[in-house]
Amino acid sequence: MTVAEPAAPDSAAPVASDRGRVYPGPPFTAVPGLLRKLWFDRLAMLTDAASEYGDVVKFAMGPKTLYFFNHPDHAKHVLADKPLNYHKGLGLAEARQLMLGDGLLTSEDEIWKRQRRIIQPAFRRDRIAGFASVVTDAGQALVSRLGTQVGSTVDLSEEMTRLTMSVLGKSLLAADLSPLRMLGPAFEVAQDRAMFEMVSLGAIPLWLPLPRNLRFRKAKGQLEDAVEVLVSGRAHAGGRDGTDMLSMLSAAYADDPDARKRWRVMRDELITILLAGHETTASTLSWTWYLLSTHPEAAAAMHAEAVEVLGNRTPDHEDLARLPYTTTVIQETMRLYPPVWGLTRKSVAADMIDGYRVPAGADVMISPYTLHRHPGFWPEPNEFRPERFASSATPVANRYAYIPFGAGPRVCVGSHLGMMEATLIAAMVARDFRFELPAGARAVPEAMLSLRVRGGLPVTVRRV
Ligand code: HEM
Repeated sequence: MTVAEPAAPDSAAPVASDRGRVYPGPPFTAVPGLLRKLWFDRLAMLTDAASEYGDVVKFAMGPKTLYFFNHPDHAKHVLADKPLNYHKGLGLAEARQLMLGDGLLTSEDEIWKRQRRIIQPAFRRDRIAGFASVVTDAGQALVSRLGTQVGSTVDLSEEMTRLTMSVLGKSLLAADLSPLRMLGPAFEVAQDRAMFEMVSLGAIPLWLPLPRNLRFRKAKGQLEDAVEVLVSGRAHAGGRDGTDMLSMLSAAYADDPDARKRWRVMRDELITILLAGHETTASTLSWTWYLLSTHPEAAAAMHAEAVEVLGNRTPDHEDLARLPYTTTVIQETMRLYPPVWGLTRKSVAADMIDGYRVPAGADVMISPYTLHRHPGFWPEPNEFRPERFASSATPVANRYAYIPFGAGPRVCVGSHLGMMEATLIAAMVARDFRFELPAGARAVPEAMLSLRVRGGLPVTVRRV
C-alpha cells in the first residue's frame, strides 16, 4: 500500500493565549441540525465535521459540548498516554447506569484493575487456541443450516448473532446459551434505551410508562434472569474445568461474606461479557458478508483460498496462519465498519490535546470509524481493498490510524477470540456459499453501542 504523508496538525489554527487554540466547529445556529444528526445519523455528523473542520471539532449543542479529536496522535494521547485522565464517556456512561454496572467495559480505576486481573487469564492465547473447536462446531452447524436454505432468503445478521452467542457461551462460560435466545433482542432493546438516554440528554426519566421504557424494563429483567440461570449453573454444558470465566469470577469472590456484592459483581461482569463478546464479532461478520456480496472478485479469492487450504476438512487454530487473504478481508472490513465506531471518554482533570484546552468533565470522542477513513492515512479511504493489509503492503504510517480493538490499557480483552472466530467462520462459510443482496439494496450502518446493519441483512443463499 502506498501511504500519504500523515496530515500535520493544523498549525494555522488561531491561538488564544493560555486558553489554548480556538476550536473549529459548527456555529450556534447549526445546533438544531446537529441534534437531528446526533439522533438519526451519528456517523454522518462526525464524517461531515471532519471533512469540513479538520482533525479537531468542538460541537457546542446547547447543554452538551462534544470535543471530537480525529488525528491518530490524539487517539494515542487519550487512550494510551493519559488513560487515567479519561474515563468512559457518552453512551457507555448511560449503558453503565442502565445495565452494565461496574463490569469490565465500564468500571474505572481500582475496580477495573482488579476485575481485569481476575478475568484476563480466561483470554490467554493458549486458552483461545483451545476454543477453535467450539468455533468450528458452531461454524459446522451454520453451514448445515445454510445448506438447507439454498435459494431462500436468510437474515445473516440474525444468523451471525446466534452463532457468536453460542460460541461465547460454550467457550468462556462453559454454558449452552441456546435456550436463552431472547438475549440478542434484549440487548438490542437495552442499547436502544442507552442511546436514547444519551441523545435525549437524560431528559426522559425511566419511570415514565412510555413504550421505550416498558420495553427496556422487560429486556433488563430478561438479562438478569439469564444471569441467574448462568450463575446457578443451570446452563452448564459439559467439560467445565474451573478455568472458564464464570468459575474464575466465582472463585475470586467466594470468600466475600456480602452475598449482595457477590451477586452484583457476577451480574455486572456477565451482562458485560455477554454484550461485548457477541455483538462486535457478529457485526464484523455481517459487514464481511455485505462487502463480499458487493465485491465478487474478493468473494471469489476468499473462496479459492478456503478450498485450497482447507479442502474438505474442518479448520483448526493452525489454519489461521494459512488464511492470509481471509484475514485481510476481516481486517479491511473492520477498517470500513469498525464494530466499536466511537470511543467516548470524559476527562477527569483539564488537559491539553495538540494545543487545544480540554476542560475537566469534558465529553471527548475518538472515532475508529472516522480515523479508519482519514484521507491523510488511507488512500481512497472509502474503497474496500483487502490488499492494504497484505504482509507485502506498507503498513499504515501511524498505528493509531487503525484501532478496531481500541488502544492502551482498555484495549479489547477478547481481540484474539474475536479475530479467530471471524476468520475461521468466514473461511468455512465462503468455502461453500456466496450471498446475493436484493437488487439495488445497500446496507446502512446504524451506530448504536456497536455498528449494526440497519434492519438486518437479508440475502439469498447460493452454493458456490
Ligand atoms: C471483532 C470483535 C471485537 C471487536 C472489534 C472489539 C472491540 C473492542 C473495543 C474497541 C474495545 C475498547 C472499548 C473502549 O476503549 O472504550 C473493547 C473492549 C472490550 N472487549 Fe472487545 N471487541 C471484540 C470482541 C470481543 C470479544 C469476543 C470479547 C469477549 C468475549 C470482548 C470483550 C471486551 C471487553 C470485556 C472489553 C473491555 C475491556 C476493558 O476495558 O478492560 N470483545 N472491545
